[in-house]
Amino acid sequence: MEVWSIVVAAGSGRRFGGPKQLVELAGRRVVDRSVDAMARVSAGVVLVGAADQLADLTTSGADRIVAGGATRSASVRAGLDVLPESATHVLVHDAARPLVPEAVCDRVVAALVDGADGVVPVVPVTDSLRSVDGVPVDRARLLAVQTPQGFRLDALRAGHAGDADATDDATLVSGLGGDVRHVDGDPVNLKITGPDDVRIAEVLLDD
Ligand code: CTP
Ligand code: MG
Repeated sequence: MEVWSIVVAAGSGRRFGGPKQLVELAGRRVVDRSVDAMARVSAGVVLVGAADQLADLTTSGADRIVAGGATRSASVRAGLDVLPESATHVLVHDAARPLVPEAVCDRVVAALVDGADGVVPVVPVTDSLRSVDGVPVDRARLLAVQTPQGFRLDALRAGHAGDADATDDATLVSGLGGDVRHVDGDPVNLKITGPDDVRIAEVLLDD
């Protein structure tokens, strides 16, 4: 078993208002924190960046850097294309989740060791929920999905074979009947989405 990571950082940060992966959190860039977190739990890291930011990413510590695509799924596929032959499993992580605790990664890898085709870290939804037309939604039926998601490499490659598009890779693998398991995520593993998330992340880093 050889576990590699793909860190996807090729988004445009529309909701943030710019390239959030290059923003500094307590003196260190979001993307560098994410690459470092994945390097600690894998044999190597492929970083997928926007074509015009590749020069900014050379100091990230990633083993391989490649240009992404127009959608997150296309960026994951760009990463899959440059994994070494020796890789058997892959962790796909959003660069926008720089605070991922090592324990979350460890739980994902442990489920892969145990034979899962795919592994998704999840957290309970804490807010009360309503649909857009005002119907209450039972939050006990819902889970919020985080990254890194872990995969047997051939299962993820099969999921991506049809140039499919999905905001999360596990959907592609379970769609093919793969054994996709849940493990506990962590509320600390927030995704930097809007500018307020930088302030929240800095508070968490200060703890
Ligand atoms: N991502 C990517 N390639 C894309 C789109 C997204 O590599 N074409 C990456 C982002 O860089 C991010 C992760 O996927 O690390 C999760 O995406 P999201 O949080 O939606 O980031 P953005 O797409 O950049 O933000 P927005 O949707 O607000 O534009
Ligand atoms: Mg996006």
